[in-house]
Amino acid sequence: MAKLAPSILSADFSRLADQIALIELGGADYVHMDVMDGAFVPNITFGGPVVKSVVGKTGLPFDIHLMIEHPEQRIPDFVTPQTEFIVVHQEACTHLHRVIQQIKDLGVKAGVALNPATPVSSLEYVLSDLDLVLVMSVNPGFGGQKFIPSAMDKIRLLDRIRREKDLHFVIEIDGGVNLKNAADIKAAGCDILVAGSAVFGADDIPARVRDFQAVLG
Ligand code: DX5
Ligand code: ZN
Repeated sequence: MAKLAPSILSADFSRLADQIALIELGGADYVHMDVMDGAFVPNITFGGPVVKSVVGKTGLPFDIHLMIEHPEQRIPDFVTPQTEFIVVHQEACTHLHRVIQQIKDLGVKAGVALNPATPVSSLEYVLSDLDLVLVMSVNPGFGGQKFIPSAMDKIRLLDRIRREKDLHFVIEIDGGVNLKNAADIKAAGCDILVAGSAVFGADDIPARVRDFQAVLG
């Protein structure tokens, strides 16, 4: 069974708590929150205050995706009672091992994201420390982009490595996920599927979440 993490990047920010309530109603597993700084990626979204504003407004755990430079300077801003994962980008961390330990020392599960051009091998010496690996299936920065097929190879490779080495990180995918490709992504070994526009673009958001869960369950 795979899990669904709708990304609020495609939500109506003017009524964020209500939009999160809709995905919770449909049975989502996490709220995926895309933090962008206008430097690591071209877009700017939100920071810690917005994340903290929805604490207690939902029962869902938070999956925080930091698309920012120098994440080590900001990580504490995103630690809340509902923060389950904090995910940093491999490409944004000169001292990746240290950043992973920083997240774990704060009592949060640590994840690392790989851009489409970044190989799985770049994580070889930290994989055993990780709780999650996020495979980007688009170039980060925007919702509504097309799925990059090579992400499927990365999922299969990560799944094989964790079985061979008896590791326990979960595999997450982010970008261009929809109802058509969700079953194949799950079959490749993915545990958590992020979907932004495919969830929040629906007329009936809870129904769309249920449609995803029917495929992933
Ligand atoms: C992209 C973000 C994604 C985004 C996905 O940089 O990390 O989480 O919301 O959007 P869709 O699902 O529309 O591709
Ligand atoms: Zn994301």
